[in-house]
Amino acid sequence: MNRLGAMVYDRLVMQRSQDAGLADLRRAALAEARGDVLEIGAGTGLNLPQYPREGITRLVLTEPHAAMARQIEAKRDLAPAPVEVVAAPAEALPFEDASFDTVTGTLVLCEADDPARALDEIARVLRPGGRYLFLEHVRSDDLALARTQDRWAPVWKALAGGCTCNRRTLASIEASGLDVQRHRMGRFPKAPKIVSPLLSGAAVRGDVL
Ligand SMILES: C[S@@+](CC[C@H](N)C(=O)[O-])C[C@H]1O[C@@H](n2cnc3c(N)ncnc32)[C@H](O)[C@@H]1O
Repeated sequence: MNRLGAMVYDRLVMQRSQDAGLADLRRAALAEARGDVLEIGAGTGLNLPQYPREGITRLVLTEPHAAMARQIEAKRDLAPAPVEVVAAPAEALPFEDASFDTVTGTLVLCEADDPARALDEIARVLRPGGRYLFLEHVRSDDLALARTQDRWAPVWKALAGGCTCNRRTLASIEASGLDVQRHRMGRFPKAPKIVSPLLSGAAVRGDVL
């Protein structure tokens, strides 16, 4: 995310989508968050009002870009538990092994430099039995749209602050050793077609990775 993108993120980039159903999709994606919760790439904190009101004991938000993280401050009171903000990329989480019950991430693996490394880190910091809850725009299952995504990916990346529109995120989650328990494809409301395929679901860390 670049500086300009950070400045206009809530009002210009997200507002229309939020109002058209993205806020509800966030709430549904986060509904099973429990216990000690870590959110990766939390951006400006748009998920804070969407967490369940009960059952969360600790809420740690990581975000590597200061211009995004600064905007979390104004939303702290919307969270169901005290919020800690930590500047860190998902590929190098500064936490002990097995220290969270839930890890969440929304619209973030599209921007991570190394999604496989980020998923390894998510698996590492989850406690056995802990859940990774995700909402990510991904490569389409429809071949024609996937080809369009491939064609426009470099342009989109340059325009959209480093976002990759055609990642095979479900395959990456499965390859990480996390056990995908459920997933579904939906649509990113009011988004350009190349970023409209929206994957949500939950994966669990088993005892042995
Ligand atoms: C499209 S925004 C999504 C923000 C927020 N998760 C949301 O749902 O509104 C992508 C976010 O990923 C962050 N990001 C970029 N590279 C990252 C990385 N390597 N690790 C974690 N977050 C990263 C960006 O700074 C930005 O805040």
